[in-house]
Amino acid sequence: MTLRVGVCVSGRGTNLQALIDACRDGRVDARIVYVASSRKAAPALERAKLAGLPAEAFPPAANGGRDAAQQLMARRLVAAEVELVVLAGYDRILGDAFWDVLGDVPVINIHPSLLPAFGGLNRLKVHEAVLAAGVSVTGCTVHRAHRGMLDEGEIVVQRRAPVLRGDDAERLEARVLEQEHIAIVEAVAQFAAAKEGTRLARA
Ligand code: GRF
Repeated sequence: MTLRVGVCVSGRGTNLQALIDACRDGRVDARIVYVASSRKAAPALERAKLAGLPAEAFPPAANGGRDAAQQLMARRLVAAEVELVVLAGYDRILGDAFWDVLGDVPVINIHPSLLPAFGGLNRLKVHEAVLAAGVSVTGCTVHRAHRGMLDEGEIVVQRRAPVLRGDDAERLEARVLEQEHIAIVEAVAQFAAAKEGTRLARA
């Protein structure tokens, strides 16, 4: 039984694209049934539209502020009967208005470091901090997201990437991003497998 997935985005959408491709190729038993963006101009929205997916933007300014925008976004996700929400480069903190509507639908987030290391920082800042710390290995984490938490929650998947001599933040980001695209698909596959497991146990 195919898992119904909603994806929240804000930017370029390469993780969304990785999921679109994996669903289309049948590498994961999931279907993206709704894409929500915090920004109208997000390239991720174009990717969704090109793939023929229902997609909408919920900019706070045009929707009565952050809480009202997130409440509406959650209503749309629930109306699409999502069984998993993936935050794939969603750049806002989700407030109570979102969680109250979403109920017990699980939410996962992707972060470009090996959490708990380098949590709470945005994209390029993470890689700058990794370089400044002089560590030799970094990576990415897909974790459960919960009300009131930032870059915390149970880890679902982690993948590693080396930090190489001569790296700058952009080069390191590109190497980590390759791992993100694998990790996000692996994470969704875990939820799809759990759904299938529950169905078989009930049969
Ligand atoms: C990724 O690095 C992700 O880990 C972080 O935001 C970035 C989103 O990239 N949360 P993209 O929009 O999926 O290309």
